[in-house]
Amino acid sequence: MDRPRVVVTRRWPDAVEDRLRELFEVELNPRDVPLDQSALREAFSSADAVFATVTDRIDAQVLSAEPLKARLIGNFGVGFNHIDIAAAKARGIVVTNTPDVLTAATADLAMTLLLMVARRCGEGERELRAGGWSGWRPTHLMGTQVSGKTLGLIGFGRIGRAVARRARHGFDMRVLFHDPFPPGAEQIRALGAEPCETVEALLASADFVSLHCPASPENRHLMNAERLARMKPGAFLINSARGDIVDEAALIEALAAGGIAGAGLDVYEAEPRVTPELMSMENVVLLPHLGSAMRETRVSMGLKVLENASAFFAGEAPPDRVV
Ligand code: 8YV
Repeated sequence: MDRPRVVVTRRWPDAVEDRLRELFEVELNPRDVPLDQSALREAFSSADAVFATVTDRIDAQVLSAEPLKARLIGNFGVGFNHIDIAAAKARGIVVTNTPDVLTAATADLAMTLLLMVARRCGEGERELRAGGWSGWRPTHLMGTQVSGKTLGLIGFGRIGRAVARRARHGFDMRVLFHDPFPPGAEQIRALGAEPCETVEALLASADFVSLHCPASPENRHLMNAERLARMKPGAFLINSARGDIVDEAALIEALAAGGIAGAGLDVYEAEPRVTPELMSMENVVLLPHLGSAMRETRVSMGLKVLENASAFFAGEAPPDRVV
């Protein structure tokens, strides 16, 4: 049998690209320039599978490609809100993702954001690099204590629970969570976490609020002006999930008005565009979507896409099928 033809939309780590060449007749993207909508559409007509990332908008228009050759979208990442799942399903295209392998990386990054914003690390580094550090003094860049404070997790899936472990066991934090589909009581007890019936109940008590829910249509602007206003004065918002879970304009207003103390963001509503007002706010830490950006993790993510595709083309059930 001919090897399946695969289009890979972005550059992947070398080790995984070598493996891709062994397994498939593959079209790589060595210049790493994102495909536009027409090139994406063309990929669905010319390849058996498209291996995509968060930077590909795979909408109904792209999926209406004729003739349609592709039968699989192997998503390099766990979140798949950039793919029109209903349209993929309607066209009989299987979609897989890469859970588990990026849980630790993303949880570590959520804690990085939390610590950076609480301890004013961005401000400190900017000051030092600009040559503005005049030396140690008792009142210099005093931040906020993290240890022993209350962390509210919105979303208590794999990544939320990994953050809970770090916060509870590493920083002795009280951990609250809200999730409409919580894990079993035993798992909750083992993590020492406390469920909140509503987002509002969590916001009323949390010193730090960290988002770990999927970017489903229901969760769009889950953190809106009203909910931001319900956060404790002096609380911080951390977002390492997806940009559109937060109303970015409302967040900017809350930060500017001092309604909340600060924010740590890895994701944005219109990536890679970042609302300009955020850029000049000292109490905001801004990272360029680095959640899973560790060498080891990116290799594991690629290998997981390959594992799913190999199963699919062998006529077996891919382990991480989302539709
Ligand atoms: C990925 C992510 O880098 O997996 C996810 O959902 O947000 C990131 O870890 C990105 O999605 C790549 O497609």
